[in-house]
Amino acid sequence: MCGIIGSTGEGATLNDLLEGLARLEYRGYDSAGVAVARADGTLDRIRAVDGTASLELLAELAKGKSEGYIAGLGHTRWATHGRVTTDNAHPHFDCSGRIGVVHNGIVENFRELKSELEQTGHVFSSQTDTEVIAHLLEDYLKHGSTLKEAVTESISRLRGAMSFVALDADDPKILVATKRMAPLIAGSGSGANFVASDIPAILGKADTFYQIGNDQVVVVSPGDIKLFDLSGNSLELPEIAVEWDLEAAVKGGYPDFMSKEIFEQPAAVRDTLLGRLNSEGEIVLDEMRLNPEELRNINKVFIVGCGTSFHAGMVAKFAIEHWTRIPVELDISSEFRYRDPVLDPQTLVIGVSQSGETLDTMAAMNEASMLSAKTLVVSNVMGSSMARAADAVLYTRAGPEIGVAATKTHTSQIAALLLLALYLAQVRHSIYPSEIADVYSEMIKLPQKIEEVLASDASIEEVAQSMVGIKRFYFIGRQVGYPVALEGALKLKEISYLPAEGYPAGELKHGPIAMIDSDAVVFGIVTRTRLWEKTISNVEEVRVRGAKIVLIANQGDSESEVLGDVIFEVPKTHPLLAPVLDVIPLQLFAYHLAVALGNDVDRPRNLAKTVTVE
Ligand code: F6R
Repeated sequence: MCGIIGSTGEGATLNDLLEGLARLEYRGYDSAGVAVARADGTLDRIRAVDGTASLELLAELAKGKSEGYIAGLGHTRWATHGRVTTDNAHPHFDCSGRIGVVHNGIVENFRELKSELEQTGHVFSSQTDTEVIAHLLEDYLKHGSTLKEAVTESISRLRGAMSFVALDADDPKILVATKRMAPLIAGSGSGANFVASDIPAILGKADTFYQIGNDQVVVVSPGDIKLFDLSGNSLELPEIAVEWDLEAAVKGGYPDFMSKEIFEQPAAVRDTLLGRLNSEGEIVLDEMRLNPEELRNINKVFIVGCGTSFHAGMVAKFAIEHWTRIPVELDISSEFRYRDPVLDPQTLVIGVSQSGETLDTMAAMNEASMLSAKTLVVSNVMGSSMARAADAVLYTRAGPEIGVAATKTHTSQIAALLLLALYLAQVRHSIYPSEIADVYSEMIKLPQKIEEVLASDASIEEVAQSMVGIKRFYFIGRQVGYPVALEGALKLKEISYLPAEGYPAGELKHGPIAMIDSDAVVFGIVTRTRLWEKTISNVEEVRVRGAKIVLIANQGDSESEVLGDVIFEVPKTHPLLAPVLDVIPLQLFAYHLAVALGNDVDRPRNLAKTVTVE
């Protein structure tokens, strides 16, 4: 993982790097660091390690350092190789201390390169894989290469998914960066030019943004950004259309990004659904690059994703099978490609990834392409690596999500996947147009219904505060309630660090019910579906064993309400759309419990938002 940034130009400031890093901290925060160069060739490095507050410490250490820098590199770390120490914090330098590198990803062959470099006299000062890059560059520069040539030679020798930016203090105005299967963009502004892991890092500083492809090298100088392939051929720099504004990337009055993003869900779902129905009442998916004929030929669908995105994919399985009758298999991305999946050109593999950069999902999608399946990605980030590589893309329009725990992208993913399921049904004529219209008319009511759920925030907060001290939580649901249960448990684990398990309600009696006693709290997803009675029976089974019961039930459902110690009400909707509403009280509960426990909800320990390592 890790977030990287570089800036160069008369207007380049240390502050730009620090602000950029603050917006990249969702990528990791084990440590943070900057290296900044002056025109006279001096290179200063500041590095900080302070639990989840490394970036604050870095800003503190940088206070009082005079500006007057003309270029610099910044890094926020999610540790993979080497413990969380100052020595292992980036930027890393070569032996001379003249070449600085910030890196995201893993150099898989670093051990062999390191021993080779040590044999030729290089001295390492960290345990990181990154440091080999600085020493490799040093060798190439010593042998007369330019920094651009040295970066090109180096990336060809490094194995693994990564991006890095390098600076040479002897010519500090030139930053050279490259990427392979890891995010990297460039941006030009009036006072400075930039390279960074993502767009929000340089929003408000750059006004034009550019895409960097795999195995390309970008040379960023004060008045210019140039792109090359690994043979040194000059490439056209593709512009990225950026619709996000700076305000979307900052907290906007909320105490943290997570609460801001929970409350942005009505807008995120509304925007994701906007303009998807034409005047003939047909679903239109403008970004869809697969034609109706190709979609009609599909006879099998796989859905892959990780964590919260996987849970959205689980909901989609029910919808696609129900509306299209195409069999759907689901797989966790990191398992998919190692199980030798049976795919052919009539298989559609749907990758669900808000970032579009998660390495496990990207690798699963690449495997699917190699096996000649059609690929479609559901992503929140325009021009993300997966969006570019897939045969088709469907964007959620949730705006940037900074909080590490995914919330608004999850409900937007479900909305987008439901649209996709309806679209598949439409092109295959597997349901009547009137049914599509009916479901869509229910879908566009979701934003208003989400508002209604969010209105109970204060009472959910009270319940969460009353549960400080509870040590075990269980979440149960059936059919589309099952992914909601898994997501409720995942949210709680991520930010409260408490044991929380999600189960299919009917499975509990096959073992897990042995754990139920009066110290347990069980959340039951009992909104009305055809399985309501069965789910209610499963709730009864845990209630009689003494567990405290919290129910997610439809407004005014008195038959459900009598069974719960606490009721979180949600409006009624079409049963397949219910997860969009049912998950929201669970997000709010997890949020308030974590806040009550004094946890940093935006920066949960050990996590990073975009996981670009396998
Ligand atoms: C949980 C969470 C993670 C992500 C997962 C996939 O709150 O955010 O489980 O859902 O790492 O990330 P994307 O969707 O970017 O592929």
